[in-house]
Amino acid sequence: MIDIHSHILPAIDDGSRNLDMTLSMLHMSAVSGVTDIIATPHVNRGGHVPSWQEIEEKTAQVAEAAKRAHLPIHIYSGAEIELNGDVLRFLKEGSWDYCLAGSPYILLELTDQSQSDMAERLIYELQLRGFQPVLAHVERYEQLMNHPDVLISWAKKGILLQCNIGSFTGYFGHHLQQHVEDLYRNHMVHFLGSDGHRTEFRTTDMREGHDALRNLQQKQHNQQDLWLETTQNASRILNHRVLYPDVPDYWQVKKKGLWQRLFGS
Ligand SMILES: [Fe+2]
Repeated sequence: MIDIHSHILPAIDDGSRNLDMTLSMLHMSAVSGVTDIIATPHVNRGGHVPSWQEIEEKTAQVAEAAKRAHLPIHIYSGAEIELNGDVLRFLKEGSWDYCLAGSPYILLELTDQSQSDMAERLIYELQLRGFQPVLAHVERYEQLMNHPDVLISWAKKGILLQCNIGSFTGYFGHHLQQHVEDLYRNHMVHFLGSDGHRTEFRTTDMREGHDALRNLQQKQHNQQDLWLETTQNASRILNHRVLYPDVPDYWQVKKKGLWQRLFGS
């Protein structure tokens, strides 16, 4: 498994507090089957943009410490970038600063205030500059989840979708669990990430998530092995290869059970 979304760098955002915590988080990752992890600290949150040099230096320090601790995991630099007009200032054409593992892929986060038409225009501008956008934890955006036709049109335009593995377990509530189950049924999950922030909550441990995926696959009679497929997709990021996922033409709604058909709720 390749974890493309994590807050493992120490003391740079609201994630890991220090190097000890970082190493514990990496240990959790490794025991849950993660072989590669991309550090994606928050960038442009509240207007704060840490320098790319700082992110790269911290990533190198963490990689070195993990090697000394004999942790079997590869660590790459990246960022989770809050999307607003400011991104056009620091995401420059021809530079892969703030991208995932030195590739053209960028992990973008929307806010509650984001308007989907404005976000789409900004993302298009970034695509013109050569970036390949990945939308972080898409299940959180009500505006998009309520209009899956928009989501499908975005995916057809090359916007890739990442879900948090904790959403499949119900850790972030039933509502988000429903959203990821809908996305999975529609083959609209391209990447998984832990979005791990700490060791005691919102961790980098993916084992429960892996179990939840297996159960869901059986429940939905879904042929898609999401753990495997998202790992293969993520390896394209690490190898700087383009990903063209199959995107459905329409959104399949969940079939209602007998009780719901009879009584409507
Ligand atoms: Fe995150």
